[in-house]
Amino acid sequence: MRSDANIAGPMTDPVPGPRTESTGADVSRETPPPMDDTPIGRAAQLAVEALGRAGEGLPRPEQTRVIVVANQKGGVGKTTTTVNLAASLALHGARVLVIDLDPQGNASTALGIDHHAEVPSIYDVLVESRPLAEVVQPVPDVEGLFCAPATIDLAGAEIELVSLVARESRLQRAIQAYEQPLDYILIDCPPSLGLLTVNALVAGQEVLIPIQCEYYALEGLGQLLRNVDLVRGHLNPALHVSTILLTMYDGRTRLASQVADEVRTHFGEEVLRTSIPRSVRISEAPSYGQTVLTYDPGSSGALSYLEAAREIALRGVGVSYDASQAHIGAQKNDPTMVEGVQ
Ligand SMILES: Nc1ncnc2c1ncn2[C@@H]1O[C@H](COP(=O)(O)OP(=O)(O)OP(=O)(O)O)[C@@H](O)[C@H]1O
Ligand SMILES: [Mg+2]
Repeated sequence: MRSDANIAGPMTDPVPGPRTESTGADVSRETPPPMDDTPIGRAAQLAVEALGRAGEGLPRPEQTRVIVVANQKGGVGKTTTTVNLAASLALHGARVLVIDLDPQGNASTALGIDHHAEVPSIYDVLVESRPLAEVVQPVPDVEGLFCAPATIDLAGAEIELVSLVARESRLQRAIQAYEQPLDYILIDCPPSLGLLTVNALVAGQEVLIPIQCEYYALEGLGQLLRNVDLVRGHLNPALHVSTILLTMYDGRTRLASQVADEVRTHFGEEVLRTSIPRSVRISEAPSYGQTVLTYDPGSSGALSYLEAAREIALRGVGVSYDASQAHIGAQKNDPTMVEGVQ
């Protein structure tokens, strides 16, 4: 399954910024999107403040955490997770860079970043050795959030990299040479285990695997885990699977809870307590060049990504996460809860 969220329609609008388009009241089951006269970044900030964490912030990691979001299965929520977690961490006060490593450029689109063929992109960094700083763009509306976009050129990189020196570690080198202070780098991988994903695995310390709560969820994961082991053994001893995130959780179905149980049995501690519900708002946001955090800050999708970000930040500094303190706890952790159906 491929992402179909940004094929056509309003997404082709290259101009980021406050969006005022109608979102179709017929599909809305939640709070309305930001009002026309409300800057969306401010609205998202208000949502964070409404969570009661204003000023409290989240602990920042001592060193930049480089998190690789990978799963070679398509359409499991890698990009959605990358952009929404990144925006959540930034709204919690962190400085975050998203590296779009997928030729589809979905993360760039979702962040409202121009990524037509002429835009300096991660391809130039990987293949032409251009400094990362020259391709990074600030994300509109979310302070502290940046993106290194992917253009269609990246589709050829998988082949072009083969003959280059240090082909597996070109992204790692680019990141090491990047001098801007960052708390997090999130790398959105393509749905394959080729050289692009290997570059991400060599560059990162942590792997975050989004798992869609559907049948066959665990199928194919063995191959990814073997690749992680191989990269750890040969190229990057620090690499480990730190986080599993259950996505598109639909509490109405027994299948979702069975998959969640199976994943928790299999992976244990790595699985975040917070899971991401299937949410209309989450799937609509990219077509407006936005994350759900700015598109509909009060939605269950936005709140669950904020909460997942909090959990990841706390784990990173060794603080155990208390689910009972979650602001959407009673709803979110109730396996019967699904957006609009409680
Ligand atoms: N929690 C959610 N609720 C509803 N729809 C979702 C949710 N998460 C993701 N989606 C939708 O599912 C589709 C696939 O998501 P996404 O693009 O994030 O997956 P991906 O793993 O990055 O895909 P690919 O392998 O093609 O890169 C998209 O249309 C997205 O909008
Ligand atoms: Mg993707």
